[in-house]
Amino acid sequence: MKEDVKLNAVLNEKPEYAVWIMRQAGRYLPEYRALREKAGSFWKICFDPKLAAEATLQPIKRFGFDAAIIFSDILTIPDALGFPVIFEKTGPQLEALDLSKPIVFDQKALDRLLPVYEAINLVRTKLDAKTALLGFAGAPWTLACYMAAGKNDEGKAAKFWAYRNAEGFSRLIDTLVEGIAEHLIAQLKAGADAVQLFDSMAGGMAEPLFVQYVVRPTKKIVARVHATVPGAKVIGFPRGATLRGYGMYAEQTGIDVMSLDTAVPITWATANLSCLLQGNLDPLALVAGGEALEVGMTRILDAVHGRPHIFNLGHGILPETPIENVEKFVSLVRSGG
Ligand code: CP3
Repeated sequence: MKEDVKLNAVLNEKPEYAVWIMRQAGRYLPEYRALREKAGSFWKICFDPKLAAEATLQPIKRFGFDAAIIFSDILTIPDALGFPVIFEKTGPQLEALDLSKPIVFDQKALDRLLPVYEAINLVRTKLDAKTALLGFAGAPWTLACYMAAGKNDEGKAAKFWAYRNAEGFSRLIDTLVEGIAEHLIAQLKAGADAVQLFDSMAGGMAEPLFVQYVVRPTKKIVARVHATVPGAKVIGFPRGATLRGYGMYAEQTGIDVMSLDTAVPITWATANLSCLLQGNLDPLALVAGGEALEVGMTRILDAVHGRPHIFNLGHGILPETPIENVEKFVSLVRSGG
């Protein structure tokens, strides 16, 4: 891992600040909207290495973030497993498969993800030496939620299945653990400096489900990644977990960085979590800008003062975010206040 890369210095616990934004290549950028228009669809960009590399680099060129995140989606894994995904106005829709039949993560599935690794290779050749490159995947619980319902139903179908047929559901989770670990490892080998696991549906879970389907599978994935790629760093994002859930996740999964959602009080996190932290500015404070942005940033800067921190939002950037507010966000990090 190259130390002159700011994000890597932070990951190695040097007291510095790095900054990037979840969904930083997206619809708030006119150049992304133009690329999407040209490509025809979001999914086309995800599976075309040249287009994916171009989208990945857009926010770096504009804002000089410390990390690029490979342009892809968490739903590429279900797609590779044979659940074709389409994006409707209301969000992603997955084709239903017979979930009572075994799903396997085989070579065919891994091959379907090759464009992601090619895109990483391509970005690496174009990225300047001081910018890190992140890979990512959806976590097993979140992917299972989308696969069980075929859409975002706030986890209802997955929870019902987990209660009614824990054995069958656990088999799906185990397959996802395999596939996600392989996908993260392949991204690291292709040239990603670190990886993030998005568990966007981790909120509102009964604690036994959270332990069984968020904490334990994440622990297995992190152990596999660390054992296969020594020194690799994993960022975890159990969005919406309770504070007790955040505590368990930080202590038990072995993740290197905790990405905090907007609702986690930053002062609670700095007092109670010993791992590196990322986040947790409210995406709506970034839309609002002005005083809301400055107050939100001051709260975080005061709380993390003296420790390494990765500035980011508590969730993905919203399409209505003004470009100048993103510029202001970066300059507030750079000036340290
Ligand atoms: O962070 C990045 O810039 C890298 C790319 C990235 C995307 N999605 C691109 C994207 C990443 C890391 C994701 C993660 C992702 N995708 C999550 C986890 C994080 C989160 O936001 O909770 C989830 C749940 C998904 C699934 C997904 N993809 C949904 C629910 C949607 C539709 C919602 C929306 O914003 O329209 C997407 C589409 C999507 N993924 C877009 C982008 C840039 C918008 C695509 C477009 O319309 O052009």
